[in-house]
Amino acid sequence: MSDEKLPQGEISRRKFVTGALGVTAGVGVLSLASVVGALKPAKRPPTAEQKPPAAGDVLVYAGGTNKDQPIKVADLKADGLMVKAWPKGEVLKDKNDNNLLILFRYADGVLKEPAKVEDTVQGVIVYGGICQHLGCQVNQKDDGTLLCPCHSGAYDPRAGGEVIGGPPPRPLAQLPVEEKDGVLVVKEYYVRPRYGESVADWQTNRADASKGGA
Ligand code: FES
Repeated sequence: MSDEKLPQGEISRRKFVTGALGVTAGVGVLSLASVVGALKPAKRPPTAEQKPPAAGDVLVYAGGTNKDQPIKVADLKADGLMVKAWPKGEVLKDKNDNNLLILFRYADGVLKEPAKVEDTVQGVIVYGGICQHLGCQVNQKDDGTLLCPCHSGAYDPRAGGEVIGGPPPRPLAQLPVEEKDGVLVVKEYYVRPRYGESVADWQTNRADASKGGA
């Protein structure tokens, strides 16, 4: 029944009851929210194996016969084929899928803008290997480009991981590297946020990573 058909006294009583129920429900929602908030587990700090790459971390092979061995620049062919790696500080940081790295070595003159050539070593360029859309691992196609199997996101590893197709919102995150004692080492944190990382988190991780690996 609508209020228009009710006597004035009934309208006031109905409004009071409705208002009281609304207040009670609101208090209930607030209380429940407080309880849920109190029960929500605090965000755990990452373990050493989950920490993101940091300056000084050595890159090691993620698979193959050389698994867990440091990657020597001289051993990489300039064929543009993808190699998977993990960063290793005091421990191997392979307990966070987002730490998977992919690297490529190209012949002189193949890398092009917006790749940051100053952050590569003898044609070797390194990226976070996780798609910037929803976090799947990217694969390499025969033409050398990268394709994400989840929603067909495509990237060009010769051009700084630029998006060349599909839904990814930004290029792959290039990881600056250098050579130390013949092996590939992280120089500094990613040049842009990697998958799942806010700009604020990226800035924090970038500052932490510059202090050195752990
Ligand atoms: S997760 Fe890679 S395109 Fe969607």
